[in-house]
Amino acid sequence: MTDLNTLESDVLAQVAGATDLQALDAVRVAAVGKTGSISGLLKTLGAMSPEERKTQGAAINALRDKVTEAIAQKKAALEAAELDARLASETLDLSLPAPHRRKGSVHPTMQTMDEMVAIFAEMGFAVAEGPDIEDDFHNFTALNFPEKHPAREMHDTFFFNTKESGERMLLRTHTSPVQVRTMVSQKPPIRIIAPGRTYRVDNDATHTPVFHQVEGLVIDKGIHMGHLKWTLETFLARFFETDAVTTQFRPHHFPFTEPSAEMDVQCDRSGGEIKIGQGTSWLEILGCGMVHPNVLRACGIDPDEYQGFAFGLGVDRLGMLKYGMPDLRDMWSSDVRWLAHYGFSAFAAPNPASGLS
Ligand code: DAH
Repeated sequence: MTDLNTLESDVLAQVAGATDLQALDAVRVAAVGKTGSISGLLKTLGAMSPEERKTQGAAINALRDKVTEAIAQKKAALEAAELDARLASETLDLSLPAPHRRKGSVHPTMQTMDEMVAIFAEMGFAVAEGPDIEDDFHNFTALNFPEKHPAREMHDTFFFNTKESGERMLLRTHTSPVQVRTMVSQKPPIRIIAPGRTYRVDNDATHTPVFHQVEGLVIDKGIHMGHLKWTLETFLARFFETDAVTTQFRPHHFPFTEPSAEMDVQCDRSGGEIKIGQGTSWLEILGCGMVHPNVLRACGIDPDEYQGFAFGLGVDRLGMLKYGMPDLRDMWSSDVRWLAHYGFSAFAAPNPASGLS
């Protein structure tokens, strides 16, 4: 027994004295490794009498367990200390200038959005905002979506879990709810754009679950489609930086406008890329229309007194067109090479005086 006690205090002292993982492993091998001192003792059991084997066996096994446990604890402590030392030695002062001078850049989507805001601001539009997490009333009901409209279904809309009150919030599927929020809170005349993030359950080369829109809304007396067409054509000419923008309205359906249209812009697709302002093709770029009387009424505006037009532009799409980015998904890949190539200087914010792009 004395032998075992001595061996135990010896080995435990060695464990406690190990200063790194390598030394600790050497202690482990020497004690409980195949030919270690404790393993050696276990081998002597065979030559003992059954009684002796019973007591000695239990004692040796208990010793082995104790030593194994002590080694495991010491190992954990050494590993933690090693990690602390590494963290301390690898401290990074984020306030220091970057050694490689890799500058951050403005994402093309944000650049495009800033350009659009700059153009519309110059035309007299104010910027309005609304929440990304919307309720059914603002995203659908007030916009004249019938109860069973397919856009309300799960395949299009990200819904949150239903609350105890029975209300179910959602991620806005378009920026049109900002129209509703504006008309409810402001008196006409109204002239706003609402840039922002929008969300739909959709993912391929031309659709991402998160995308960006700029909504437009004008409410006043005597507003007609001619105002709408002029506004959009003036915007497109500024945005694509050419006077040669030709557009066409195509009849379409949106629940919140009547009549509704999609606007196409004339373009040339012959050389594998899209050129605006020439050619014989048409490219769909936005949805628009005259605000539906039901929407005006839902927002407390008398449709006999006021009329208005609205439009919704896809920001990512317009950015792709203007800057020649082939795949929408790259926009979200966080690839710094892509950002370095397509990104913009943060010091060159678009404005009408010094230029848009
Ligand atoms: N909200 C529509 C969409 O996301 C786009 C749109 C179409 C907005 C027509 C409008 C509009 O304001 O008048 O598909």
